[in-house]
Amino acid sequence: MHADAQDQGRCPFAHGSEEVVDQLDPFGAPYLADPYAVFARARAEGRVFHSEELGHWILTRHEDIKAVLRDTKRYSADIANQPLVPFSDEVRKQLADLGFRPRRVLVDNDPPNHLRIRRHVNKAFNARRLRLLEPDIRELAEQHIDTFADQDEIDFVAALAWPLPALVIFRLFGVPADRLEIIKDGSRDRVTLTDARPTPDEQRRAAQGLGAFFAYCREIVADRTENLADDFPSDLIRSGQGDETAPDFDELVTIMYSILFAGHETTTGFLTHLLRRCLAQPDLWQRLRENRELVPAMVEEVLRLDPPVINWRRRAKEEVTIGGTVIPADASLLLLLGSANHDESVYDHPDEVDLGREAAQPHLSFGAGPHMCLGAPLARLEGQLVLEALLDRFPRLSLPEQELRFRANLRFRSPERLLVQLHQGG
Ligand code: HEM
Repeated sequence: MHADAQDQGRCPFAHGSEEVVDQLDPFGAPYLADPYAVFARARAEGRVFHSEELGHWILTRHEDIKAVLRDTKRYSADIANQPLVPFSDEVRKQLADLGFRPRRVLVDNDPPNHLRIRRHVNKAFNARRLRLLEPDIRELAEQHIDTFADQDEIDFVAALAWPLPALVIFRLFGVPADRLEIIKDGSRDRVTLTDARPTPDEQRRAAQGLGAFFAYCREIVADRTENLADDFPSDLIRSGQGDETAPDFDELVTIMYSILFAGHETTTGFLTHLLRRCLAQPDLWQRLRENRELVPAMVEEVLRLDPPVINWRRRAKEEVTIGGTVIPADASLLLLLGSANHDESVYDHPDEVDLGREAAQPHLSFGAGPHMCLGAPLARLEGQLVLEALLDRFPRLSLPEQELRFRANLRFRSPERLLVQLHQGG
């Protein structure tokens, strides 16, 4: 339902608004084909829509979304991990039997408890740890490139974007590389359970993977509690010793689970979008090769244009009015981060790559306010180092004709495959 129509006492679905609400369905064909065209149409029609089907109020504009993200008094983050399709009793029991007992720690926590945990995590996830990861990222990028450098064509997702960000996080966590499948598959299962529309069978299967992932996080905390090492989990435990505000055992397990998920699923999508954008525009690859100072701006533009977390969620704690629309207390809000980043009232030529763009209005791809993404500096660093390694090794890359496929779900968007031609021999 479009709010302006409602205010004026007209049919709430006048001016095609019902059609826009239909198109805003992340599981529908128009959205899957081009959500940005759908967002542009929605922005032109209104600031707030209501989708009965999704059970969310949908916000389209940069200004409104940023205000909601920053306002912890009127909006709660507690629905961040709430499944779109509620778990069946059977799956609930299955997860309990597997020991899946996540606590509210970061992304779905509210003040003052969120601040308590975030303070401890910030201390351990610090600039020194990030600096230490830089040579690891370079080494992993080179290693992966070596595995495909002599091929004519690769799927960039399978060859690099899927494994690399997880292996970076593993170095941070002191996790051996042979855990790649359990963590990557468990993370995909998590998206299935929270953001997709799984059948009962798919729910049961995904719950098994999620349980294994969570159990491994418990193993990490149990091990480091006994054997402190030189890694992020140990730093977190060490810095909390003797401090009664420090996260307890179960909170530590959920912090591991939270970062081990957030730290790669998103960055896999980001690296894929980054390479695609670099190759989609004639001469851009060459320009970047000749002037490496443009790389950080390219990274920022791709984060803005193609946020891998395209939507986010908050819950209104009280009745609120946004752009003239009254939203009831307890309503779930869907914040279209991808729409905010293309908002023409904030960005000139919003759909184009502009490497000279002023950063006066930061994009919202990492959220805003107290929940602002913990790993933003790491994601940016991975983007820059991987892009530089590819620019060094491949003078000419190109995209063959292909149809990109995206997995239908509420919040995450990145191509499942990206075919790239490597042009051996010049
Ligand atoms: C391009 C890659 C990434 C994107 C697009 C992204 C996006 C986001 C978004 C939208 C949020 C929610 C912010 C809010 O509620 O206001 C978030 C939170 C978070 N992200 Fe990221 N993220 C990325 C990479 C990472 C990495 C590499 C890590 C970890 C190493 C990470 C860890 C987290 C954590 C722990 C939170 C919760 C913070 C809190 O609630 O205090 N993210 N991220």
